[in-house]
Order: sequence, then structure tokens, then C-alpha cells
Amino acid sequence: MNDGPAELDPLLAENVANWNSRVPVHLGPGGYEIEQYINDPTRVSQVVAFDQPMLGNLSGLSVVHLQCHIGTDTISLARLGAGEVVGIDFSDAALDAARDLAAQTGDNARFILSDVYRAAATVDQHFDLLYTSVGTICWLDDINQWAANVAGLLKPGGRFVFRDLHPVMWTYEEVDGQIVPHFPYWQQPDQPLSHECSESYVGTGTVASPRTNEWNHTVAEVLNALITSGLCIEHIEEYPGCDWQLFPSTIPEGSQYFLPEKLRDKLPVTWAITATKG
Ligand SMILES: C[S@@+](CC[C@H](N)C(=O)[O-])C[C@H]1O[C@@H](n2cnc3c(N)ncnc32)[C@H](O)[C@@H]1O
Repeated sequence: MNDGPAELDPLLAENVANWNSRVPVHLGPGGYEIEQYINDPTRVSQVVAFDQPMLGNLSGLSVVHLQCHIGTDTISLARLGAGEVVGIDFSDAALDAARDLAAQTGDNARFILSDVYRAAATVDQHFDLLYTSVGTICWLDDINQWAANVAGLLKPGGRFVFRDLHPVMWTYEEVDGQIVPHFPYWQQPDQPLSHECSESYVGTGTVASPRTNEWNHTVAEVLNALITSGLCIEHIEEYPGCDWQLFPSTIPEGSQYFLPEKLRDKLPVTWAITATKG
């Protein structure tokens, strides 16, 4: 276990407080629909279902899920046949919810409290596959420490599967009904984008600790960090859709949201990377 958020950098400690206070909102009305996982033992999250072709056959594999939140994606990995699944997150409230969910569903998943930067040392185990997706690296100020921990959690030959908001799309904002470049692409660790927002991306409740600090990481920074940590990049994908309502004017279609027609084929919205530890 880690020594708790008190030892974290103050900006990351603010993020812990924010994520802890999102948990009751995500468990409540309009949230992650936890009861659907309890009522239907075959239910797999839309995020994991989207990533299933990249994940491949999980049968019998040991899988670590970094930034697992309340465990809906984590138990989805178990439901796809993984032999062992470990979720890691720095929010104790999220892990309480994840453990409670796994206890209710009977899925074989364990959860360990750690921030990303101490994950490899805390868990001290090597896995066949590391999965992390949708709302992950924007919460980290140091992409090199992230990549070092990714590599540190994998066995030699182990696979890495990542999908998240595209670093180019990260710079966009909807201003007066127009989706326009607004935030810096290149961002310094000591210059986070800090916001106060008492709503979360799902759920109707109020987020009690509304302050967040986020960082963009460029395409080059992410790829170079992975390469430097010893990963061999296998494949990169770019997608026109997003898993959540990114802007008020994004258009829902199936399980994803797309940019308005005039921008739809002009900008990447999310991206994915698969890699193998050498
Ligand atoms: C958007 S959620 C996870 C995405 C996942 N797809 C989901 O929706 O369940 C982001 C998670 O990252 C965790 N997180 C943020 N910064 C972290 C850090 N430095 N170390 C560990 N976990 C972190 C938060 O606590 C939160 O549970």
C-alpha cells in the first residue's frame, strides 16, 4: 500500500481529493450504472468492449489495470477471461467502491492503493498485460515516471494497451458554440491547467472537492517516454470519437461522441497505443 495522499505533491493531492469526491457522484443516479454489473454477470464496460480487439485474448493472463477508478473496467477484464486482475488507483474511495463491486459480483479482481509514480514498487509483481484507458495521463505531471512504472509492472514480453484523448484534441475547447484551439499543446509540469468544476462527466450529484490540475502530454512526449522506458511500440491508432461528451456540441452515436459534421473528418479525438516490453 502507499503512504497515502499526504506525501503527494500538493497538486496531485488536490486531484486525490477531487477523485475521492467524484466517487459518490459516479455511484449515484446517472453515474456508472453499477447495478448493471451486479445484475448481469456478462456485462462488460463500453470502454473495455471498444478496446477488446486491441486487448486480444486475455484467457489466463495476469493483467494490471492502472488508474482503475471504481473497478467497472477492471471487472470487465476479469469477465473477458483474464486469469488474474489487479486494479491500481490513488483514490481510496474509488477502491472501496471497486472492492465492494467485486465482492457483490464475485469477479476475481484485487485492488491496490497507489499513485502511478509508486505503482511498480508498491505492487512488486510483473504482469502479462498492462491496460490503462480513457481519462488517465492528463492527471499526471511527469510522463516519464508514468512510462517507467508501466515498464516496471510488465514482464519481459508483456503487452501495454493504452487509449485516451488525443493530445491535439486536448488543446481544444468549445467557446461560444465553436470548437477551437484554446489550451497549450506544449505544457510545463509546473504550469498545470487548473479548474474548478462541481460537476463530473457522469452522475448528477455535486463534486465536493471541485479543484483539478491537469497536464497535456504531446504525441512525441508520450511515445518517447515509452521508448525510453524499454517498450517497443507495436501500433498506434487515431479515432474520430470519444467515450464521453467532450463538448456540449459533440454528437452521441452508439457508445461514442463525435465532433459536429464540419470538423468530424478534420481532427483526431482519441488515440491508442499498443507496445511490448523488450
Ligand atoms: C477517468 S478515471 C479512470 C478511467 C476509467 N476508464 C474509468 O472510467 O473507470 C481516472 C482515475 O485515475 C485516478 N488517478 C488520477 N491520478 C492518479 C495518480 N497520480 N495515481 C493513481 N491514480 C490516479 C483517479 O483516482 C481516477 O480513479
